Amino acid sequence: MPLFESRITSALQQRTEQGLLRTLTPVHGGNKAQVKIAEQGFVNFSSNDYLGLANDNTLKEAWKTAVDRHGVGSAASPMVTGFSHAHQQLQDALCDWLGYEQAVLFSSGFSANQAALFALLEKGDCLYQDKLNHASLIEAGMLSPAHQYRFPHNSTQRLSELIERNGSGLVVTEGVFSMDGDKAPLVDIQIQSQKQNCWLMVDDAHGIGVLGQEGKGSCAESSIKPQLLVVTFGKALGVQGAAILCSSSIAEYLRQYARHFVYSTAMPPAQAVTVTKAIQITRTQQWRRDQLSELQHAYSSLLGELPGFIETQTPIKPYLAGSADRAMSMASHLRQQGLWATAIRPPTVSRGKARIRVTLSANHQLEEISHLAQSLKQFECQYPKEGC
Ligand SMILES: Cc1ncc(COP(=O)(O)O)c(C=O)c1O
Repeated sequence: MPLFESRITSALQQRTEQGLLRTLTPVHGGNKAQVKIAEQGFVNFSSNDYLGLANDNTLKEAWKTAVDRHGVGSAASPMVTGFSHAHQQLQDALCDWLGYEQAVLFSSGFSANQAALFALLEKGDCLYQDKLNHASLIEAGMLSPAHQYRFPHNSTQRLSELIERNGSGLVVTEGVFSMDGDKAPLVDIQIQSQKQNCWLMVDDAHGIGVLGQEGKGSCAESSIKPQLLVVTFGKALGVQGAAILCSSSIAEYLRQYARHFVYSTAMPPAQAVTVTKAIQITRTQQWRRDQLSELQHAYSSLLGELPGFIETQTPIKPYLAGSADRAMSMASHLRQQGLWATAIRPPTVSRGKARIRVTLSANHQLEEISHLAQSLKQFECQYPKEGC
């Protein structure tokens, strides 16, 4: 068998045998708090649409109007003719919101993270990353010419020891961790970084829009200002894309040297218009965050006694199952009850830590959370974890 064919066959076989094969499931009629999948209605506890903006009527209208004005695509890289007034306005809106001199736009958070690390790091540099950082960051660190040191999750003490031993460099953490829903100790991390002359980069994909005044995110909530702040538009803002907020000189450097920026088609201008509108809504409609906070309290009081419950202060609510098989059975039980909550298994999380990643949206109803609690309780009674 030719090399690639046999590699593909055996990799797929291995995933299947381990019960770790992932499947693509199409959603009909928009990714809302209530979705239709395979002709059946479900309450959706698996989107990152925390503020309920992905199907917001004002945003839909903004996109439609902008398409009439700007067309459907940007038609070039930003350095050629892909950059428009719509992109400029989005940059300005981001800077005004988050208090930075500049914002560099990317088509996704994945590419923003990779662009930053590949552009900044050279041979001999030190890169310090939280062990649970997103795959885009860890992979960029592995492929970059720098020495990558991964510190245990949220351990500022280990971070400090690593920097002391290996020297100054770039420290990278998430603001809110995507699979665990916990927050990074940003104040301590900034103190350690500054003390040892490191630069700090925070990926706030899951904090932006949700935390802090006007949804300014984890850094604003902790009153810190990293040299590089990555925000994404595909989660709380309900759209797609990302930006790196930074000083004018870093932005200029990224626009010259970040290959994901220079050699990639700019996001459609109509999308930039929509994200700008989403920022305005996020800043001014505090009721969405208030609603989310009410739902989070309800989640804790309704599920707090269950064995898989983990307390978080964000809308990401991991519910621990244990083995990958048990997580799959849990997800399947929930589906039978009309609840869609995806099982997250290795390699996304470590072995034995498979879970249901429940996410809350401002568009959920209290009764839906109560239904989720009932269904999980039922599962725990029917299929207790070994040893219970
Ligand atoms: C922490 C974190 N950073 C970056 C990304 C990538 O962002 P995007 O989905 O815009 O590529 C994600 C997406 O899952 C994420 O969770």
